[in-house]
Amino acid sequence: MNSSKRKPVLAANWKMYKTVAETRDFLKVFLPLVNNLSEREVVIAPPFTALSAAGEIIKESELVSLAAQNMYFEQKGGFTGEISPIMLKEFGVKWVILGHSERRHIFGEENSLIALKVKTALENDLLPILCIGEKLEEREAGLTNEILEKQLSAGFSEVGNQEAGKVAVAYEPVWAIGTGKTATPDQAQDAHIHIRSWLTGHFDSGIAGQIRILYGGSVKPENVNELMALPDVDGALVGGASLKPGSFAQIASCRVG
Ligand code: PGA
Repeated sequence: MNSSKRKPVLAANWKMYKTVAETRDFLKVFLPLVNNLSEREVVIAPPFTALSAAGEIIKESELVSLAAQNMYFEQKGGFTGEISPIMLKEFGVKWVILGHSERRHIFGEENSLIALKVKTALENDLLPILCIGEKLEEREAGLTNEILEKQLSAGFSEVGNQEAGKVAVAYEPVWAIGTGKTATPDQAQDAHIHIRSWLTGHFDSGIAGQIRILYGGSVKPENVNELMALPDVDGALVGGASLKPGSFAQIASCRVG
């Protein structure tokens, strides 16, 4: 059970799935299923092309808000193919996922780039979901904590004490993403404790205590309650199981508090 100071966040990362039409169909079914939920934030991160449609549909919702899956760190300029924070804000985007392992490992994003993105997101009033996590070989070599610290210190390198509370950290062990292998509750809790203690060592304790730490990696309706019951798990970032409205509605309806 997370601290009552921190409102749980259940976030859907749709990756490169769903057209505009599919986004509309999903939300038409999903929103009535979660209508009565409270004491949590539900976040949907569709592809860029569906942000406008999704933003229009959820703009009246108090519960559900919109995230982008990535962003560039400049407001405008000659950056072919990139999307800026001001463009995201036009669609009512509130959050932005940064440093997802697919960005790091498929597209070669380095910690230094992710740091600039986190800084720019905050400067533009977007809330970063900073993703961190170790690869399988790093875990097996006993390097998990070292990798997490490195990714945290880079990700927060440009973030001051006042702003730090606006960042959510998503712990996503790379070996658990899209593989059906979830971290055991002990593995998740250990990593989350380590992340919390790093945060406490770098920011005022009140601020560090506000930062939500989400778990991600094969979260599904069957395991979400067990994960959310862990003391330092403040939410979930969900890929595959967020693509069907019924499944993500069950996840969003997890026990909190
Ligand atoms: P998964 O993806 O739930 O399909 O493992 C999680 C993520 O990549 O954020």
